[in-house]
This record gives sequence, C-alpha cells and structure tokens, in this order.
Amino acid sequence: MAILEVKNLKKYFPVTGGVFLRPKGWVHAVDGVSFSVNKGETLGIVGESGCGKTTLGRCIMGLYDPLEGQVIIKKQKVSRLNRQKRKKLALNLQMIFQDPFESLNPRQTVKEVLEEKYIIHGKKKGKLDSQINNLIKIVGLLPETLSKFPHEFSGGQRQRIGIARAISLEPEIIICDEPVSALDVSVQSKILNLLLKLQHRMGLTYIFISHDLSVVKHVSDRIAVMYLGKIVEVADAIAIYNAGRHPYTKAL
Ligand SMILES: Nc1ncnc2c1ncn2[C@@H]1O[C@H](COP(=O)(O)OP(=O)(O)OP(=O)(O)O)[C@@H](O)[C@H]1O
Ligand SMILES: [Mg+2]
Repeated sequence: MAILEVKNLKKYFPVTGGVFLRPKGWVHAVDGVSFSVNKGETLGIVGESGCGKTTLGRCIMGLYDPLEGQVIIKKQKVSRLNRQKRKKLALNLQMIFQDPFESLNPRQTVKEVLEEKYIIHGKKKGKLDSQINNLIKIVGLLPETLSKFPHEFSGGQRQRIGIARAISLEPEIIICDEPVSALDVSVQSKILNLLLKLQHRMGLTYIFISHDLSVVKHVSDRIAVMYLGKIVEVADAIAIYNAGRHPYTKAL
C-alpha cells in the first residue's frame, strides 16, 4: 500500500538580476515529479548537486508550497487539510539533515533539543525524562550525552542526535536528506546501519536522498534518479546499480 504519493509536483524559484532585482526567469527546481512509496519501503533519490533533491524533500515536508501538484499522505491530499490536521500530519513526517546542528542554538543542551518536539506537541516537560533516556539509548549514545552541547560532539554523534530528534514522536515517514554526506566513510556505514535498524524496529518508511549512488544503493529498495528537476528513471536498487538505462544514470 502506498503511504506517500507525489503527483506532478512542481516548484520554481525566481531568478532575479540587475540593480532592481527584476525577475529574469525561473529555476525549475522540481519540474513535474511523480512517485509513490509503500509502507516500510526505502525509496532512494539520487542525482547531482542542484538537481532539486532538497527542494523536493522540503515540498513533501510542507516547508515549501508547491507551484503545482499534490503530496498525498495516507490517501489525504495535504493541500486540502486545515491547519490542525496538518499539524497532526507533521507528527507522522520527519526529516534528517546533512548537519542537524547547523540551525541549532549552541546554548541548548542535547536534552533541551530532544524535549523541544515533545513540548511543541503538547507534552509536559517534567514527564519526559524516561522517554528521552530511552531515545538516547536507541540511537547508541550514553546518558551523559544529554547534559552536553552540540559542539562537544563528532559529526557521527551529532547525526545520532539528529536521528533521535527525528524519531522522537514515532513518525511513520522520514525524509533523510544527505544524512551521511558530511561524515567520514567509516562513520557513514555505522549511521546507515542505525537507520536500517530503526526502520526494522519501527516499521519506518524512508525517502533517502543522496548524490552518492553507492550509498543510496546500500539502503534502498527502489531508486529514483533525478536530473534537472525531473525523475528520469525509477527501478529496483539492484537493477539500477547494475544497468541504469538513462545515460545520466550511467554517468553516476
Ligand atoms: N530557496 C531557493 N531560492 C532560489 N533558488 C533555489 C532555492 N533553493 C534551491 N534553489 C535552486 O533550485 C535548484 C535545486 O536546488 P536543490 O537545493 O533542491 O538541489 P539539490 O539536489 O538538493 O542539491 P545538493 O546536492 O547541492 O544539495 C538549484 O538550482 C538551486 O540553486
Ligand atoms: Mg540538497
């Protein structure tokens, strides 16, 4: 069963120029993308820098309003939902970023970082300790981690915290946008294995975005190849890796 469908999704950005920043044209960042993802599946999205992967992820998350097209989650058209229903839906959909701490307040401890999502969704602060201790254990970190600050961690540990934050509200779908691209190769496989373990344990559905086909292949059931805002090929992970048909896939 499809848990997530994307239909003819488009997102263009204006290109401006000159002293008056007049619109000169449009970047077709996402240009008519359609696909569906089944529950528990990992759909890899691979493509070179600037082909629109992050924009696509942000449109699915509802962080961008698409110009055209639909995002359908569990048969509900997101654009048709009211604010309250969207907020509820947001519980079900989370994102993991290349560097989760880029946008974070350096004065927040890990504990405060992890409490935030619960509090936004109406949980009481005093009652979160056991949940947060459990969360930190699941992602393979020590309880001492909780009182530390983001800058005290290595990239791999930071990504574990980002993952803990993403799974805290037990979502069904996680969009992973280049989750290991900033990490050393030895650490990459540890994080990928953690993602796979969590998928198994929680029945998660992943959209896994990367420019690196060998990484995408390692975690995906199917792979969509993206090129200049469009999906040019979708196939089973093994098939694409062995014999991608589109010339661009071959180039990857
Ligand atoms: N907020 C924005 N405003 C204007 N143009 C944007 C914006 N975000 C992305 N773009 C443009 O849209 C295109 C797609 O960008 P996007 O970041 O989605 O690509 P990407 O595949 O994620 O690249 P990367 O692998 O470098 O992360 C690029 O040409 C980019 O310059
Ligand atoms: Mg990107």
